[in-house]
Amino acid sequence: MTAGRPSGHHGTAGAARRGVETITEQAAVGWGILGTANIARAAFLPALRAAGGGTVVAIGSRDAERGRAFAEREAPGARVGSYAEVLADDRVRCVYIPLPNHLHREWTAAALAAGKDVLCEKPLGVGAPEVAAILTAAQGARGLLWEAFVFPFHPQSQRCRELIQAGAIGEPLEIVAGFHFRVRSPENIRWFAGSGGGAINDLAGYPLNLARLVFGTEPVAAAAVERREGHEVDVETQALVSFLAGRRLLLTCGLQRAYDAEARILGTEGWLRLSNPYHPGPADVLELGRGTTRTIERVGGDDPSFTPAIRHIHQVLAGEEAPRHLAVTDALPIARALDLVRDRAARLE
Ligand SMILES: NC(=O)c1ccc[n+]([C@@H]2O[C@H](COP(=O)([O-])OP(=O)(O)OC[C@H]3O[C@@H](n4cnc5c(N)ncnc54)[C@H](OP(=O)(O)O)[C@@H]3O)[C@@H](O)[C@H]2O)c1
Repeated sequence: MTAGRPSGHHGTAGAARRGVETITEQAAVGWGILGTANIARAAFLPALRAAGGGTVVAIGSRDAERGRAFAEREAPGARVGSYAEVLADDRVRCVYIPLPNHLHREWTAAALAAGKDVLCEKPLGVGAPEVAAILTAAQGARGLLWEAFVFPFHPQSQRCRELIQAGAIGEPLEIVAGFHFRVRSPENIRWFAGSGGGAINDLAGYPLNLARLVFGTEPVAAAAVERREGHEVDVETQALVSFLAGRRLLLTCGLQRAYDAEARILGTEGWLRLSNPYHPGPADVLELGRGTTRTIERVGGDDPSFTPAIRHIHQVLAGEEAPRHLAVTDALPIARALDLVRDRAARLE
């Protein structure tokens, strides 16, 4: 969250280039969703309702009955069809893709080819080569592509950036960050290599992305250990990730512990503690420690955590904001950081 991150690849000029498609203040952005995912129900849809300016007009499902039941409950009035039918629907301007990770490449490419703007769930692809291939498709496309790391848009991240830039903790040198939650169902996509599962794919991207935003550089080396416990994928991974100038991230992530996403950013003059940097809820805080002083803030109100990112997308489509954190600028460095941890990880079966 340092200053001087590049703004979106397309920038203001990109928004202007797209001016003919600009929505009016009255017209809600039509969203299509591919799949009846848990994250769509639990996070995206409540956030879209809170954001205003957009509505779900189409739901895609492999199973028409499941799609209808989902639409009835979560997005009444939305058309239900196959994924391809959602992409062929002219009322769909933006597509949200919360499919299992191994399907992100195929359906992101298809949505971009259909001329849609796309918010694809993280990780955008499984491994840097796959992400690079998706970005190649994105570069020639009319639509814009975001990977659904929503936290950089959140006011809490902006506050954190302001504090760091103002010297509140001096020079940030170390980040200690974990992301864990307990996956109970043995059928969950996260347990399977074929669906791009595992703790690194699912969770390590958050602390790695936080660290690269805070340090303003990319990781240069890593040492890691992953545990499999008889699964096809890592159920827990711990890593020491080095950045230039002695900066480092100590990260753990896993699928077995109670939900916990705390991060501490430690600097030469003080520290910041974020009880949840990625999806802050009503109980979450940003704490600043410097000498004997402690300051605790709650930033961002009660909006769902996806809301600021969705508002940003709506504003970009309305020509009111230049796009930020597009996949073309952010996704490949994140994928490379994930590969660095994966490639360096010693495996405990
Ligand atoms: N940004 C975040 O904070 C966040 C949080 C959680 C998850 N995620 C990401 O969101 C994505 C979905 O996660 P989730 O936990 O919501 O998954 P989920 O509940 O299992 O949903 C995945 C959906 O994809 C469709 N699908 C298509 N092919 C499938 C297959 N072979 N196996 C299973 N489902 C298939 C299913 O819908 P139909 O069968 O109806 O087509 C299913 O409902 C993942 O990429 C994950 O990393 C992001």
